[in-house]
Amino acid sequence: MCGIIGYVGEENSVNYLIDGLEKLEYRGYDSAGFAVINNKEIKTIKTVGSPQLLYEKASKIVANIGIGHTRWATHGPATLENAHPHLSNNGLFAIVHNGIIENYNLLKQELLKKNYEFRSDTDSEVFAQLLEENYNGDLKGTVLRTISMLEGSYAFGIICNDYPDTIVCVRNQSPLFVGKSEDGTFLSSDISAISDNCNRIFRLNDREIGILKIDSIKVYDSEGCRIKKTEVKTKIKEQNSNKNGYEHYMLKEIYEQPTAIRNTLTEIIKNNTIVFKQINWSEDVIKSINNVRFIACGSAYHAGMVGAYLTEEFFKRTAKAEIASEFRYKNPHIDENTLAVIISQSGETADTLAALRIAKQKNAKIISIVNVENSSIALESDSVILTKAGKETAVATTKAYSAQLAVIYTLILHLALITKNIDNNTAKLFIDELKSIPNKIEEILANTKSILELSKTISEHEYICFIGRCYGYCTAMEGALKLKEISYIPCDAYAAGELKHGTIALIDDNSLVISLSSAKETKSKIQSNIEEITARKGNVLKISSEKDLADIVIPNSLDNLYPFLEVIPLQLLAYYVANEKGCSIDKPKNLAKSVTVE
Ligand code: G6P
Repeated sequence: MCGIIGYVGEENSVNYLIDGLEKLEYRGYDSAGFAVINNKEIKTIKTVGSPQLLYEKASKIVANIGIGHTRWATHGPATLENAHPHLSNNGLFAIVHNGIIENYNLLKQELLKKNYEFRSDTDSEVFAQLLEENYNGDLKGTVLRTISMLEGSYAFGIICNDYPDTIVCVRNQSPLFVGKSEDGTFLSSDISAISDNCNRIFRLNDREIGILKIDSIKVYDSEGCRIKKTEVKTKIKEQNSNKNGYEHYMLKEIYEQPTAIRNTLTEIIKNNTIVFKQINWSEDVIKSINNVRFIACGSAYHAGMVGAYLTEEFFKRTAKAEIASEFRYKNPHIDENTLAVIISQSGETADTLAALRIAKQKNAKIISIVNVENSSIALESDSVILTKAGKETAVATTKAYSAQLAVIYTLILHLALITKNIDNNTAKLFIDELKSIPNKIEEILANTKSILELSKTISEHEYICFIGRCYGYCTAMEGALKLKEISYIPCDAYAAGELKHGTIALIDDNSLVISLSSAKETKSKIQSNIEEITARKGNVLKISSEKDLADIVIPNSLDNLYPFLEVIPLQLLAYYVANEKGCSIDKPKNLAKSVTVE
């Protein structure tokens, strides 16, 4: 997986490449590199770690053509050898790759028999050697012949020393954009990496090949026939992103949650009425929906869990949250009466994108909730609802998650109103309370002293477990993920009632259970679970809206709105623990903000 970039033009490519790689870093930051053609020779510059480190190594290089890559390791560890670009043995080709070549081993064995040498453990390097093997002087023809041998997903950027004025790019299942600027042409995995420079941007489809020169972009189909592309309309200008005085992006983004929710709701609630201009199905079509699937990965999946509970409660339809990587392989039993809600911050997560395509194939009705306009999921969905979280930089999501909850909550209320499963007065009550959520989050954020204090005790424990029921269970899952991903402390999350079916065996005086018990409906049940834990000498950190039951008190709300509130102390606990441990909070080890391979 990873991000790729390319530039050919009148200017020095180096700054454009590194700047683009920094914008693509959310796709991986294990290593970075670029290749340029300079004095009739391909030169590569690579580093382990993030692209910023390339500036120093590249200071003396001037070249008007280059391709770059930022890596999230799949095949082989994060080393210089495995960093892209990869060169063909004869040094004629350099390639960068986002995706996975599934038949690489077979191809590699064939090439080894022909005495090709491999300098990396990557699947990608096979492509460089295959280009050398297939080359007959015709660059476009060679690339087309070579991709016909590949199975898997790819977006490639290719340069060839025989063509010092040309970059070739081609894709299958991995996103790829090409763009024209005042001084040259670009390629990129993501529109946002080139939208500041380019005035015209085009999206390549699977197996289309782009030929980029200083002043032209030509696109061909897999047969080599020229095709005309339609411009992608983009308003995106890369938003300036800085920490605004916060120590980490994650902390800044935690504090931006009230604004993210307000901005998202402003687009949806007009004069106290929910309006989704993106959904233009008739009342009969909406009534025909008999089941709802929320499909996503990671935190977005946890937002989907909340959606499933809300759907059963308000919209009165069978609902399920689905992990996208499972959904795509389980031959899901869905049809035109299914509503598939696809949730993704980045809009680029490979499994979620594949699940969207399956849901479309099976004629499900699709609504996608994404934070990035013009992302792959947004472009492939009929109805897209944008969360207005703004750019999220920290790998561990916070404000995008809260904005997803805001869309899901209003979406389900909207469907419930249309199908008359709730009346206007009840809806008004929920909308009023929803509108007060940003203020209540601000209340929590204004007084974090006790959260900071309590965070100091967390790493003392050998076993940590989050528990909640119904909506609280969804939040427990999200809280545990936050703690794991940024502080590297192993922990679990359980539906509180499940604890006694096995996991309680782990409870002793070295364990800590973090309980969520704000919801009135299940408060007493959680209280009983807490008793069971303390009876076994387990420690409990209680988060609740009820003072007497809480170590951390949150404001009162409605049961189904507590996910917005209970998650805030959990995000802060994770943040403080990770900070105390000196972890790399914004870019945790082994992770990427957007996982673009399956
Ligand atoms: C990665 C991130 C998670 C995120 C998940 C889904 O695993 O580390 O924080 O929740 O991807 O990302 P998406 O962009 O689809 O919401």
